[in-house]
Amino acid sequence: MYYPSYRMRRLRRTPAIRDLVRETKLQLDDLVYPLFVIAGENIKNPISSMPGCYQLSIGNVIPEVREIVKLGIKAILLFGIPAHKDPAATGAYDHEGIVQMAVRAIKDEFPDLVIITDVCLCEYTDHGHCGVVQDGEVLNDVTLELLSKMAVTHAESGADMVAPSDMMDGRVAAIRNALDDEGLTDTILLSYSSKFASAFYGPFREAAESAPAFGDRKTYQMDPANGEEAVREALLDIEEGADMIMVKPAIPFLDVIHAVKQETKFPLAAYNVSGEYAMIKAAAANGWLDEQRAVLEAITGIKRAGADLIITYHAKDLATWLG
Ligand code: PBG
Repeated sequence: MYYPSYRMRRLRRTPAIRDLVRETKLQLDDLVYPLFVIAGENIKNPISSMPGCYQLSIGNVIPEVREIVKLGIKAILLFGIPAHKDPAATGAYDHEGIVQMAVRAIKDEFPDLVIITDVCLCEYTDHGHCGVVQDGEVLNDVTLELLSKMAVTHAESGADMVAPSDMMDGRVAAIRNALDDEGLTDTILLSYSSKFASAFYGPFREAAESAPAFGDRKTYQMDPANGEEAVREALLDIEEGADMIMVKPAIPFLDVIHAVKQETKFPLAAYNVSGEYAMIKAAAANGWLDEQRAVLEAITGIKRAGADLIITYHAKDLATWLG
């Protein structure tokens, strides 16, 4: 059937009709809000390239989490900025480390909130790389032991889900085995399976104080040109025991989100990263974009591409608008 008997505009005529035929609906349940917890007291440092986001000390994280819970957001992702950095990233797997303490404090007050912790050494090493460095090289296998210790201490502190973002080979199996050996069989493993070496992490590195002091992350994070490799990474992590997988960043990689979902049929998270957030925030601050419409369109697009969960710094605003 063709025009004039068939008219696509019929189903666009009124808001109610459009509501009825809308294919993709964002929900509060889709959203994860990232938080930066910093060692020290009474700290609330604005992150200049991420307006509305802060480095918060534990005492200040609690009221922030209270607001998040009140908005109806069901999950947070925690990053830590330790007091001290060293070559062995000792702050990463210390029971009294910043994330471990924050998890315990938050769980204590908000037992139903899902706490996800980022498992990566870059915030804890003095050189800012995601693994142990020797002679300028990021070593894979020795790093696995540290990541495993880190994940176990997060889980012991009460994290519901651990999310390795380091991109070392074999880390999913190593972490799963370490958790199981400690009886932490219910801890969910969300792998940053398909993480690209992206320019869009720029603002995050200011937020987490984790920029590499030399070189870049291209020997472990993926080449943004590679979509098939992203699928292979996801399949390998599933083989190793990942419960959920991830594509990161989101907007430049919508095709990858789609392909990974189609090929795996596993629960898939997409990370709408700091640079994606900063772009919309900057354009909106200049009056160049309608922030609410731009965010809703961008995040709906990520869901339409195939993401089940969306990690985004826009989550609080979205919760207000969707509320
Ligand atoms: C740690 C990590 C990074 C991000 C999440 N976990 C930074 C990086 O790989 O350099 C980026 C998140 C964002 O940009 O919002 N490895």
